[in-house]
Amino acid sequence: MPVTVVVGGFFGDEGKGKIVSYLALRDGLDLAVRVGSVNAGHTVILDDGRVVKLRMLPSAFTQPSCRLLIGAGANVNPSIFLSEVEATGTKGRVGLDPQCSIIEEEHIERDRRDAHLSGRVQTTGQGVGPAVEDRVRRAAKLARDVEELKPFLVDVALETSRYVEEGRRVLLEGTQGCFLSLYHGTYPYVTARDTTAAAVCSEVGVGPTKVDEVMLVFKAYVTRVGGGPLPGELPREEAERRGWVEVATVTGRMRRAAPFNFELAKRAVMLNGATSIAITKLDSIYPSVAGARRWEELSPEARRFVEKVEEELKVKVALLGTGPRVFDVVDLRSS
Ligand code: IMP
Ligand code: MG
Repeated sequence: MPVTVVVGGFFGDEGKGKIVSYLALRDGLDLAVRVGSVNAGHTVILDDGRVVKLRMLPSAFTQPSCRLLIGAGANVNPSIFLSEVEATGTKGRVGLDPQCSIIEEEHIERDRRDAHLSGRVQTTGQGVGPAVEDRVRRAAKLARDVEELKPFLVDVALETSRYVEEGRRVLLEGTQGCFLSLYHGTYPYVTARDTTAAAVCSEVGVGPTKVDEVMLVFKAYVTRVGGGPLPGELPREEAERRGWVEVATVTGRMRRAAPFNFELAKRAVMLNGATSIAITKLDSIYPSVAGARRWEELSPEARRFVEKVEEELKVKVALLGTGPRVFDVVDLRSS
């Protein structure tokens, strides 16, 4: 499948970083394009146990031959971008679109000072919402206006379309989750962009007819950080007992947790036009599957859960995450 979009199915933090990194290595991706902004942290745990947290670059950096781009719809924090390029040693293969908008110090201050944003919505305080406000007001500074970004500037839509025309393997990496969408999420407790697959294409500049596959990533349970409804939310002690309490990548806040939600998942399938599903952290609900890489290694309960997801959502489950490292995956695509 030459062009794949990967998006989150719940409230973000479904494990997209790990899934994208797996696909990059396993399928030998040629190009990965990231969208969104620094409010979204994607974590990749390498085979040697090294943990890499990315807020700007595509999680496909693990594939050394993969070109790494950031689409025009993204909001860039130049210092975070530059430090990630440095940390991953990817300078020669990273590019960003001249029309990406820039997050400035003042946006961060506005985000943190604003009682509605920081108190009610409980944003990540990274300045993304205020930067988007300025962009919509057509007053934003763009990547083309920033001297240090000049060496990286490239027409991302055009370069992506060349890869697509040549039939090379392209992945568009969405951020956050379906129900944090500005349009389709739990407004006003949402982020400052649409998070669905169509919006990912729009942020990159790829027409919908070019996309072959939309992979929707769910975690085996649901988490949410910040304000807003979380159906079936567990009391903190119960979430802790189940080992479902996580610490947010960007803010260090504790994530709220709830069991897998089939109703939300069905709606996410609809909103994204999902063609396949990845389920991460299966080992968190079925500890015996930890590290499994084949279907035969899964317990009957774990298999029944996966089959139930397929039956209810009427979409094939392609990948199962069974542990933190990139290759802790059961890949069902060829079976
Ligand atoms: P903002 O995106 O910083 O404006 O925050 C708006 C809401 O989206 C808050 O509830 C955040 O916690 C949530 N949010 C934004 N990005 C992410 C993410 O990557 N993972 C999880 N929650 C996020
Ligand atoms: Mg995250």
